Amino acid sequence: MTQAALAQLEERIRALDPWFHDLEIHGIRTAPNHPLGNFLQDLWSQVEPAFPGDMTGKTVLDIGCNAGFYSLRLHARGAQVTGIEHDPHYLRQAEFAARELGADIEFILMDVYDVERLGRQFDYVLFMGVLYHLRYPLYALDKVARLPRERLVFQSMLRGSAETLRVEDDYPITEREVFLDSRFPCMYFLENRYAGDPTNWWVPNRAGMEAMLRSAGLRIDARVGSEVYYCSPAGR
Ligand SMILES: C[S@@+](CC[C@H](N)C(=O)[O-])C[C@H]1O[C@@H](n2cnc3c(N)ncnc32)[C@H](O)[C@@H]1O
Repeated sequence: MTQAALAQLEERIRALDPWFHDLEIHGIRTAPNHPLGNFLQDLWSQVEPAFPGDMTGKTVLDIGCNAGFYSLRLHARGAQVTGIEHDPHYLRQAEFAARELGADIEFILMDVYDVERLGRQFDYVLFMGVLYHLRYPLYALDKVARLPRERLVFQSMLRGSAETLRVEDDYPITEREVFLDSRFPCMYFLENRYAGDPTNWWVPNRAGMEAMLRSAGLRIDARVGSEVYYCSPAGR
């Protein structure tokens, strides 16, 4: 690319500020001063072993795809990728980045609550970093759990106890103590803000997250790091 073309590209990238995904487009980074630093590369190293090296012929759905970091990575492995995103600003970034990088990815402005409108399943589904932004997380998770044929790769912010306990099948109504145990499955409701973000609504503890994944009809095949799960449809 000529210097003039690069300067023009930089201008077009800056016109799409602010970026959450730090992508590299022809050597220019979209969010070089991201407050979370290199978090995407760290997460990618936890996520990428969930996928085959060669994804030719495989379909992928990236829910809450943002500017398309994961979509682009999986497209580069040969997958046929669809990304959905409810924020038009992020969707514009994703479309721009894919166009500039010559990646043929289908991006759709869509809310996760409407995901059944796609009318199809996918070999792999990513549902990363979205659940805690939802006011109705289990409603969404129940829908998302029906979409993957092979694997769901999931991540949520988790807080509270990282320990789990053996939950009984049933408890008498007089049982109160167990609810005071920080290892009991739970989800914290954020009425105001957390990390300055008013769209953070529900943050599960580890036991709560794992119980919800199972309850939605998923089998947890692996937990990677503290927040990433590889799941598959439990019926398989
Ligand atoms: C923390 S970012 C995570 C982005 C990306 N999935 C990742 O892991 O890097 C949350 C993304 O989910 C999107 N999102 C939030 N609520 C959504 C909803 N109801 N439907 C679809 N996307 C949503 C946001 O616009 C944002 O792009």
